[in-house]
Amino acid sequence: MILVTGGCGYIGSHTCVELLKNEYDVVILDDFSNSQKEVVEKIEKLGGKKVKLYEGNMIDSSILNRIFEENRIDAVIDFAAYKAVGESVIKPIEYYKNNVATVLELIEAMKKHNCKRLVFSSSATVYGTPSYVPITEDSKIGGTTNPYGTSKLFVEQILNDLYKSDEEWDIAILRYFNPIGAHESGLLGERPNGIPANIMPYITKVCKGELECLNVFGDDYDTPDGTGVRDYIHVVDLAIGHIKALEKLEKEKKGLFVYNLGTGQGYSVLELIKAFECATLKKVNYKIAPRRDGDIAECYSDPTKAKEELGFVASKSLEDMCKDAWNFENNINK
Ligand code: UFG
Repeated sequence: MILVTGGCGYIGSHTCVELLKNEYDVVILDDFSNSQKEVVEKIEKLGGKKVKLYEGNMIDSSILNRIFEENRIDAVIDFAAYKAVGESVIKPIEYYKNNVATVLELIEAMKKHNCKRLVFSSSATVYGTPSYVPITEDSKIGGTTNPYGTSKLFVEQILNDLYKSDEEWDIAILRYFNPIGAHESGLLGERPNGIPANIMPYITKVCKGELECLNVFGDDYDTPDGTGVRDYIHVVDLAIGHIKALEKLEKEKKGLFVYNLGTGQGYSVLELIKAFECATLKKVNYKIAPRRDGDIAECYSDPTKAKEELGFVASKSLEDMCKDAWNFENNINK
């Protein structure tokens, strides 16, 4: 049985579906601070199995202990965290509490119940301004520019220290690049509260007529067309990456492993807009705006290690990501 914290969120929900499809039993802990309860039924429908739901926040050790007492948890996949970069600058205390302090509660409860297998959601943001691209896992980490990124860096350090103290732990740290897209059914996808900060939900809202115009943040970067380059990965591919990481921890000897989850291919903002227009036949209304604080020119992965050690290769194209994101946008509230 796998405990998935934040299992109703964007990446968590897609991962729960893949777990169920792979015959795992799933327990979800979610506080619904940035997700909706209806997601549970959709996960069950797509995964073809029921899940067990606990509503609460990981900061509450009593709910964690109850979960471990009431279920035989073999491993935990931890997605429960806040993830808005801009908001984290304004609310650092909330971010460190919800993204770092909760992990301490989680690993304490895991240790207490002798469950020592953990897959942790980290982010390419831990590389700060990368010294080279494509980024390999042994690239320097640090130099994060916001509390969100720093919270992921801190947890990585905590997990490293934990493993050093007790090599019975199996830990996989997964550094995501830019997850976009949605489940092809249109039932699951990204539903940020308020005005989206990330590019894909912003594009779909512009095309839907709910927002006027996409601001392209900077066209004077040192990139082929001057706009920022990112490694966009389909959320279902990313979800499958978690299953591969879990399988590795189950099969192989103990250890702490770090993997980039990306496609290895960088696309600029203008290339993404063009791909979206081709895939959906919608026109994206955009204008060039000043650079956004904290943005970097280029960030894309070297996905070799995940391919060699996990057998993980992202299979969906940028076209799939655009089509599925647009399909989901048109299914929201249906
Ligand atoms: N962008 C725009 N206009 C927008 C939003 C974004 O031009 O309205 C541009 C950005 O400048 C950047 C690209 O689109 O070049 C992607 O921006 P996102 O905000 O979608 O994503 P980021 O690369 O800034 O950050 C994302 C996640 C982080 C994660 C990081 C890892 O939001 O949580 O990827 O690389 F840490």
